[in-house]
Amino acid sequence: MMQGTNVTVNATVGIDKINFYTPNHYLDLVDLAQARGVDPNKFLIGIGQSKMSVAALDQDIVAMAANAAEPMLSADDRQKIGLLIVATESSIDQSKAAALFVQDLLELTGNLRAIEIKEACYGATAGIQLACDYVRSHPGRKALVIASDIARYGLDTPGEVTQGAGAVAMLVASDPAILAIEPESLYESRSTGDFWRPNYSTLAFARGKFSEEVYIGMFEELWAKAQDQEMANPEHLQALLFHIPFSKMGRKGLRTLGGGKIAEADYVRLTERFEQSIVYGKEVGNIYTGSIYLALLSLLENDESLRAGDRIGFYSYGSGSVAELYFGTLQPNYRQRLDVQAHRTLLDNRERLDMREYEAMFSAALVTDGSEQDLGRSDHSVAAPHYLAGVKNHERQYR
Ligand code: HMG
Repeated sequence: MMQGTNVTVNATVGIDKINFYTPNHYLDLVDLAQARGVDPNKFLIGIGQSKMSVAALDQDIVAMAANAAEPMLSADDRQKIGLLIVATESSIDQSKAAALFVQDLLELTGNLRAIEIKEACYGATAGIQLACDYVRSHPGRKALVIASDIARYGLDTPGEVTQGAGAVAMLVASDPAILAIEPESLYESRSTGDFWRPNYSTLAFARGKFSEEVYIGMFEELWAKAQDQEMANPEHLQALLFHIPFSKMGRKGLRTLGGGKIAEADYVRLTERFEQSIVYGKEVGNIYTGSIYLALLSLLENDESLRAGDRIGFYSYGSGSVAELYFGTLQPNYRQRLDVQAHRTLLDNRERLDMREYEAMFSAALVTDGSEQDLGRSDHSVAAPHYLAGVKNHERQYR
């Protein structure tokens, strides 16, 4: 039920806790630009990114997922989680769900459904919607959704500057402390060849400019539908979050609302909030399916002017392509659930790689011939209690 500027929603299911982890190495994009013979402003302004996280072999998507979720789960949460979803397009196994490794590392009960979801950068939104439906039909139980990815386009490719690595964990529950998610949303699926990664490749392929067109085109369609159905009155929208493969892409999405399409005051407000939503992502890079949720965390932790009751829109896009536009309302005590200091420390304490170290880390690979491999530990911080120790008998060994 919507009332006035601030919106009250009847169904109170949504995000109760949120946390993120990113590996402790990064590449400064000025170093990348210089090494590739590109004007640094192309990356800093044209693409809108400043750094990108780089994952060592021991921080694969399972380790990162567990590291993102570990600090936020209480004993009570662990008992009540009945659905565990890991959304990823950097899957480590064709058969066994990454969620089962994560269940083990997080010491969750066996009384849950553990699954992996894939649909490019849209996967975590599919996970969030499934989780909300699960909690609505199982009041009292909770769902853990973790988006975890390593974006890899290859050395010296146009996509290289848009790589990144990280995981965002979200606990979905009734009477959530952070964001109540509205049950009605708009979505569309359309088979496109804008971005894909065949089974034989560890690198993604992209038709870069075409992917931008599809991203924008699907946003415009969903936004127009939302207007027709009176779901997205800009006056009542305090922020609009975008999937952020790189910050300029989200900015291009938002700009489609400029030029008088919505009232100037609303456009200015949404633009100011957008700036706060890209603070973390500019330093982490594309984390694929977690990117829009990193944008949510960035907004909540960097914007002082948001208030409980504010309505936030989400434009989630996954290549291939599936897009969804949905909405949520900030809850009264959302600030108490945030840990700005921990996240700032996580970003600031990362180790800067030089180009040689970055290329070596990027090119390192796990064995594929059944031999044993022991990995060193790349992150000794409290932020990374979980790591991949090596490979034995074709199986990844976690600690
Ligand atoms: P490119 O061809 O190297 O870049 O690749 P460009 O030459 O088009 O330049 C980029 C921008 O920098 C342009 O601005 C230039 O004008 C500007 P724009 O026209 O875009 O506004 N520029 C400068 N600005 C300031 N100072 C300068 C300067 N020089 C140039 N000196 C591209 C860019 C994004 C295509 C490439 O990085 C790529 O292919 N990335 C991967 C694909 C991608 O991220 N697509 C986004 C939409 S699809 C999506 O979001 C889904 C995805 O996350 C995957 C999934 O769903 O799983 C990718």
